[in-house]
Amino acid sequence: MSEPEARKRLLGPADADESPQRSDDRIVDPHDVMEDELYGASLRPRSFDEYVGQERIVENLRISIDAAKRRSEPLEHVLFYGPPGLGKTTLAGLIARELGANFRPTSGPTLEKPKDLVGILTSLEEGDVFFVDEIHRLGRVVEEFLYPAMEEFQIDFVVDRGAYAKTLKLPLRRFTLVGATTRAGMLTAPLRERFGIVQHLDYYPPAELERIVRRSANVLGVPIDGDAAHTIAARSRGTPRVANRLLRRVRDFAEVRSDGRITEPIACEALEREGVDEAGLDRLDRAFLRTIVEQYRGGPAGIAAIAATLTEDAETLEDVVEPYLLKEGFVTRTASGRRATAAAYRHLGVAAGAHAQERLL
Ligand SMILES: Nc1ncnc2c1ncn2[C@@H]1O[C@H](COP(=O)(O)OP(=O)(O)OP(=O)(O)O)[C@@H](O)[C@H]1O
Ligand SMILES: [Mg+2]
Repeated sequence: MSEPEARKRLLGPADADESPQRSDDRIVDPHDVMEDELYGASLRPRSFDEYVGQERIVENLRISIDAAKRRSEPLEHVLFYGPPGLGKTTLAGLIARELGANFRPTSGPTLEKPKDLVGILTSLEEGDVFFVDEIHRLGRVVEEFLYPAMEEFQIDFVVDRGAYAKTLKLPLRRFTLVGATTRAGMLTAPLRERFGIVQHLDYYPPAELERIVRRSANVLGVPIDGDAAHTIAARSRGTPRVANRLLRRVRDFAEVRSDGRITEPIACEALEREGVDEAGLDRLDRAFLRTIVEQYRGGPAGIAAIAATLTEDAETLEDVVEPYLLKEGFVTRTASGRRATAAAYRHLGVAAGAHAQERLL
């Protein structure tokens, strides 16, 4: 079977003739709220120099990219993992830019069938960056197609059945896969092992977030006082996406309520109206803590039970709410469930000993 025939057979007649550059190849990230889609793009750093913080990661990437370019080889496959909104997608795009390669984004849940994946893989040009967001959500069958593609730049597939079955190999152009996930633990070992570069993104320290707030204010053309930038950064739960979102909220408030300049009192008032407190916790975070404290007497409480009480999705709580509460020491995770800490009681203004005493009575 010739190569085009093999490809056509695998893709099926309907898709085989379609242009590989279909616009729906670009998939919207579920963690990116619409807002991010609409306004995030302009705030997204366009070069490594504009990318604030995460210095060690950026430095390592620069070296690897430089080395790959010198050898005229594609960059090794890269895996980014860490909480939402810390810059994984941004970094993937910057890698492509820095390599001078095409950026081909997609995401795990949209690659439902092998033919979805094969369609994209066979259309990649030499050195392209193929970005798979939420890579932990790839289906098992699709994932198995990816192994030889990543390792040997070829796709193996079986034609015919029984005694006549044979494996055909379809060569691909050499590309770089960049995977991103908020759940590294959910990746299978064989997939994880196929990444040459694995980088963990962690929450940003306040000083770096402050730089991001200033940079974004500058891009948006909004005047901002130093202490206001500091306040917004301190309440952004270590996350650039949150910092940018809060900045936009505060900007709206400043424009409507005063002359548009973001001052410290304006920032505080706007953040309060948004329900964001001094620790950067929002209503959902506080409801999470309050559930453990009030419904489960401080815990332990299982995540499914908390999710049911809050009528929230357990995965959302685990991905978006819990990591920051853990990091800030408001909750701990034990084998039997989540517990609220003394800091959580203090934050909610509930006496820490209240439940212990109740139990004694
Ligand atoms: N280091 C940074 N410097 C400046 N801005 C940043 C940085 N990292 C992220 N941002 C901003 O934060 C927003 C969110 O980043 P990004 O979409 O890359 O996060 P993510 O890790 O891919 O999130 P998710 O897990 O939800 O997909 C971007 O629009 C960008 O403007
Ligand atoms: Mg992303």
